[in-house]
Amino acid sequence: ESMEHGSVSWEAPSNIALVKYWGKKEHQIPANPSVSFTLKNCRTITRLDFSKKENQSDFDFEIYFEGNKKEDFKPKIKTFFERIVQYVPFLKEYKFEIHSENTFPHSSGIASSASGMGALALCVVSLEKKLNPEMTEGFFRKKASFLARLGSGSACRSIEGDIVVWGKHKEIQGSSDLFGIKYPDEVHENFKNYQDTILLVDKGTKEVSSSVGHNLMHNHPFAEARFAQAHENLAKLKPVFAEGDLKQFIEIVESEALTLHAMMMSSRPYFILMKPYTLEIINKIWNFRKHTGLPVCFTLDAGANVHVLYPEKDKVKVLEFIKNELVAYCENGHYICDSVGDGAKQL
Ligand code: PMV
Repeated sequence: ESMEHGSVSWEAPSNIALVKYWGKKEHQIPANPSVSFTLKNCRTITRLDFSKKENQSDFDFEIYFEGNKKEDFKPKIKTFFERIVQYVPFLKEYKFEIHSENTFPHSSGIASSASGMGALALCVVSLEKKLNPEMTEGFFRKKASFLARLGSGSACRSIEGDIVVWGKHKEIQGSSDLFGIKYPDEVHENFKNYQDTILLVDKGTKEVSSSVGHNLMHNHPFAEARFAQAHENLAKLKPVFAEGDLKQFIEIVESEALTLHAMMMSSRPYFILMKPYTLEIINKIWNFRKHTGLPVCFTLDAGANVHVLYPEKDKVKVLEFIKNELVAYCENGHYICDSVGDGAKQL
């Protein structure tokens, strides 16, 4: 194949953190380790068209999102290229067209930065592999995650499947601050195909960008305690993943979500990113759990939407509850049914 021009395509999934990444050091190094479920249905599909160029003085690229040329996406991608070029110096030798689309609605309040940066990073490493065909599969995935991290921290957890750990943790072998790894230890079948129904409470764009959010952890009065707690919660999840103890799982996951929001509420400036309906939903979930005994819980990102997590075997009952009692709180009744998936795929 000619290296003068060509194209590579990848699809990368979104992910939902169980132990949250909130706070970072320089160069997108996380202040604490995090762990996430890789999702299956919420994905970004990206094709990178490349052609060799003469002039190597600057980056040369255009972005098309769902068929339309997007000037407003360029600064973010340019910043990404500037951060990664030292690791992929050939970037300046090519002219690019980036064609991207999401499988989920653009204005859903679902961040597409994880799947988007994941897919783009994979395309870049695919081009590198064309130049260096000896690159091993293991190195390929690590490098893609490493580059994705420089685009958006949580994007480094959107390469591998099932369960991904990002950030050095003394009890998780191979874990690194530089890239995400597939969770290396035993996982009980309770977590197989775990469901995530995403209730779209507020489809608007985020009030607080995540980079502003992470910075709020600098000089935060509770920062050190929070970072230590994330290490503890990840250590506690190890036996939970191995033994399938859903009661413990729920306690850790819900506490993580509320702590993330507690950090925002106790920073300066302070923010409340939950909406009244977020709380209504949480209370309904707690009531349902109490009355049915079913292991349903919630988690939150840095926004008002609620991720409802539950085992696949309880899907029929939980979906009925969601439709009867929770969908009324969603903007235009919109929600997304997702579940744990196996990671990015080359197309
Ligand atoms: O990847 P960022 O910089 O957009 O940060 C994401 C942070 C949370 O979604 C709130 C938590 C997480 O670990 O994904």
